[in-house]
Amino acid sequence: MRGSIRKILVTGGAGFIGSEFVRQAVLQKYKVIVVDALTYAGRKERLKDVLKDISFYKINICNASVLKSVFAKERPDEIIHFAAETHVDRSILDAQPFLQTNILGTYNLITLSKEFNIKKFIHISTDEVYGQSLTGFFKESSPLEPRNFYSATKASAEHLVHAAILTHDFPATIVRPSNNYGPWQYPEKFLPVVISKILKNQPIPVYGKGEQIREWLYVKDCADGILTILKKGALKEIYNIGSNFEKKNLETAKTILKLMGKSERLIKFVKDRPGHDFRYSIDCSKIRKLGWQPKTSFEDGIKETILWYTNNQAWLKKL
Ligand SMILES: NC(=O)c1ccc[n+]([C@@H]2O[C@H](COP(=O)([O-])OP(=O)(O)OC[C@H]3O[C@@H](n4cnc5c(N)ncnc54)[C@H](O)[C@@H]3O)[C@@H](O)[C@H]2O)c1
Repeated sequence: MRGSIRKILVTGGAGFIGSEFVRQAVLQKYKVIVVDALTYAGRKERLKDVLKDISFYKINICNASVLKSVFAKERPDEIIHFAAETHVDRSILDAQPFLQTNILGTYNLITLSKEFNIKKFIHISTDEVYGQSLTGFFKESSPLEPRNFYSATKASAEHLVHAAILTHDFPATIVRPSNNYGPWQYPEKFLPVVISKILKNQPIPVYGKGEQIREWLYVKDCADGILTILKKGALKEIYNIGSNFEKKNLETAKTILKLMGKSERLIKFVKDRPGHDFRYSIDCSKIRKLGWQPKTSFEDGIKETILWYTNNQAWLKKL
């Protein structure tokens, strides 16, 4: 730590949530170093407003020796680890990149963080590690029962972090956010798929009967929650971050259609995702005790998101 300025290394900072986190951290005067492999999901243009304020390294976290050179050069105080393969459908087709990045990449970061005496390691996990919940809410103490390759690799990464805490007194905190939405999300995830299809007047694919329930968290609130945990969260603890706002996928698609002035006839039911988790839902009383709460209602967040995609169709086209 140099004076009061904290140097943080953010992996996956060119991703959807990571880039929002970087923007907010820069505003809060952190010195930010981004490490990102710029996979298909990583887009440097997400950082265009803050590129002049940060250091950016195009590096794969699976490459331990190159990663080490960044730790040696930059000597960060804290790590916020977002980098991951994140799309469940891709993990069904080929889980190899998920095993590499989510598990081995995390192990590399733990090892280097130990070697370079990092003060705090914030590990970004997901509520999907709990598996599905038909009723009730998962608490941080609930068992992990991942049901797809993506969530299985995320749970594996958490186990590595937990093992490092127990074995090496590793100063880590685990964060489990619920489903995020907002500007800049890659258009393979449900909400940007729905919006981009409507913008092109094309059918919207809805899995099964659209009965699945998701808890929607606006990305700006998620990044704000992670910053709260960075500043006030306890080491060796786990924090859920969610909105408590749950909606069936079919209802979500209908809401977006209505806001965009299009007919529900665009909805097209498609074969369900194998092993599709029915519902995720988390109890967030622990992070709320740190003084955080979501500021954006789903109604406002979804309107902002629709407006953003409408104004950024050139970006969508480029992808
Ligand atoms: N999006 C959500 O709804 C959500 C919800 C809960 C948790 N999460 C977790 O939050 C984190 C960020 O999610 P996101 O939606 O922003 O993901 P994303 O797919 O938009 O971004 C992932 C980023 O990681 C980078 N990356 C991937 N493999 C890498 C590697 N080997 N080395 C370096 N960089 C690599 C990519 O280039 C990309 O910039 C992930 O850990 C994810 O599991 C996401």
